[in-house]
Amino acid sequence: MERRVFVEACGVGAASALALMSQAAWAAQVRPKSYGRVVLMDEEGRPLRASTLKPQTNYVFHYPFEATPVFLLDLGKPAPPIDLQTRDKARYRWPGGVGPRASIVAFSAICAHKLVYPTRELSFISFRKGAAVNPQTPSKGDDLIHCCADHSQYDPVKGAQVLSGPADQPLCAILLEHDARSDRLIATGTLGGELFDEFFRKYEMKLSLEVGPQARQIVAAQSVVRELDRFCRNPVRC
Ligand code: FES
Repeated sequence: MERRVFVEACGVGAASALALMSQAAWAAQVRPKSYGRVVLMDEEGRPLRASTLKPQTNYVFHYPFEATPVFLLDLGKPAPPIDLQTRDKARYRWPGGVGPRASIVAFSAICAHKLVYPTRELSFISFRKGAAVNPQTPSKGDDLIHCCADHSQYDPVKGAQVLSGPADQPLCAILLEHDARSDRLIATGTLGGELFDEFFRKYEMKLSLEVGPQARQIVAAQSVVRELDRFCRNPVRC
């Protein structure tokens, strides 16, 4: 091959390889997904004020769909941004907590293992203040989200990273904004490994009974926040 042609061929090969590499890098990034801005409300129908949240207490609201529950937590300590990845090795940077102390976080309450979630009757998954006391599944630390179904443990201060158990990716993050002037909280989207399609497939019949035909409807404008102990009759603590 003539030298000039060979150099050009190499150049094209290198450029293609670079393009493929950058495509792969692009494909491996999870981008935030917007579902619309939803103001979090208290049970009296007023915008929830972030300063009224009790630290280290489980709260539940629904977002981005009428049937998909979310844990809202004031961790009582700052939750800094952290790099995480989904089970497909797609990377994302969780932006950390919001509010005056960067301590308020929200995660989809659908366990990444077998999609256990809190209902009005029963909840196997919740945040636990301090360490869990179950001797068979010692706690990997204090202040974790535990799923009692198969004992996955997620660290909410680290973007719900998995610390233990069969779950193989963090809980999907729900993106929040805090309006410092009004002290309101607004849900704006998701970031991470969404499991909503699997969730609706698995529980189609159950959700139609629990929530009705609007189960898969996007939450519009407002979502009511309740303490888990008020939302659910039997919160299981393992
Ligand atoms: S469903 Fe949560 S650990 Fe299995």
